[in-house]
Amino acid sequence: MNRLRVAIVGGSGYTGGELARLLLFHPEVELGQVASSSHAGHYLHSVHPNLRGLSSLRLCHPDDLSSCDTLFLCLPHGVSGREIERYRAIAPRIIDLSADFRLRSAALYERWYGAAPPEPSLLAEAVYGLPELHRAELPSAALVSGTGCMATAAILGLAPLYQAGLVNSALPLVVEAKVGSSAGGAAPGAGSHHPDRSGAVRSFQPTGHRHTAELIQELGRVAHGGGELHTQRMAFSATAVELVRGVLITAHVFVSESIDERTLWRFYREAYQREPFIRPVKERNGVYRYPEPKILAGSNYCDIGFELDRDQQRVVVIAALDNLMKGAAGNAVQALNCMYGWDEALGLTFPGLHPV
Ligand SMILES: NC(=O)c1ccc[n+]([C@@H]2O[C@H](COP(=O)([O-])OP(=O)(O)OC[C@H]3O[C@@H](n4cnc5c(N)ncnc54)[C@H](OP(=O)(O)O)[C@@H]3O)[C@@H](O)[C@H]2O)c1
Repeated sequence: MNRLRVAIVGGSGYTGGELARLLLFHPEVELGQVASSSHAGHYLHSVHPNLRGLSSLRLCHPDDLSSCDTLFLCLPHGVSGREIERYRAIAPRIIDLSADFRLRSAALYERWYGAAPPEPSLLAEAVYGLPELHRAELPSAALVSGTGCMATAAILGLAPLYQAGLVNSALPLVVEAKVGSSAGGAAPGAGSHHPDRSGAVRSFQPTGHRHTAELIQELGRVAHGGGELHTQRMAFSATAVELVRGVLITAHVFVSESIDERTLWRFYREAYQREPFIRPVKERNGVYRYPEPKILAGSNYCDIGFELDRDQQRVVVIAALDNLMKGAAGNAVQALNCMYGWDEALGLTFPGLHPV
């Protein structure tokens, strides 16, 4: 049987390494090349030591990529967009993990990124690669974008409430996101120096976080069947915490009618009962009563829970995931599975660790 020939660009980075870990063991895929501009010629395991003994691949230079069926771009924002035509000449289907093709509207991009998108002509064609919301578009997609890790948790946690028409859009949506250090990528910076990063609970983007744009786009689509969420104010803040992998979202949603927990459960169950990677979490007892990223490291799950504050007509939504998995590489493999009509869980069955 011919396996799908795939390759990765940006191979020395964190999402590139995570994709290699997944694709090497995917039963329908042959990972032929992993390209790196900084480490060409080195063994894959020299930059991703967890793959030691599991692959004899050497990283190639991006100029030496051969044609393949699907190419994963794990490049910084701006770089993917600028070089997209070069990569489209190598593969008919691209999955790009950067933010360059996440937004359909150039104006929305410009508002949140402070500059015009690098390749605006492709925004309309690209599919936002979140299978839970865009599954039907993926089989025919030639250009699929990855999703922001914090945006993914927030959108998945909140979509059922918008779908059900429960949200009081006269009041702001408040989303607090906590995120681990690997979300910043492999390149060291002043903020990632160990004495500064270790033990940190650092508010790094209390306003203006770019992932807000994905919420405006995707929750608007869910709420109105298209269009952006312009009528509601959105307050998104991000905090760096003492984790390597992980995102935890706490969102405060004010609902427009009095509602009980049972009804809320019904909406969440109806939205997600057939989803392989979404788990509703709300236990009465024990330590892990709400979603927690700690037990999701390495898994593709997004755990979602909530608590109703009836007096305030407020739902507190809590969602957790591993930023390198459901927030990046795992989600990209799930999207790949959708694009080719395979079981969505192929290559993604690792359940996470406990204790860890
Ligand atoms: N980390 C996350 O949790 C996460 C989650 C969702 C989305 N993303 C997105 O996924 C993309 C990759 O993220 P990452 O965390 O894997 O980043 P990373 O660890 O910094 O890796 C990016 C890689 O891109 C390559 N590269 C090519 N041209 C470059 C240039 N001009 N400057 C710097 N690097 C260049 C480098 O690899 P070579 O030298 O090997 O070519 C670099 O290692 C980003 O757009 C990011 O926003 C990341």
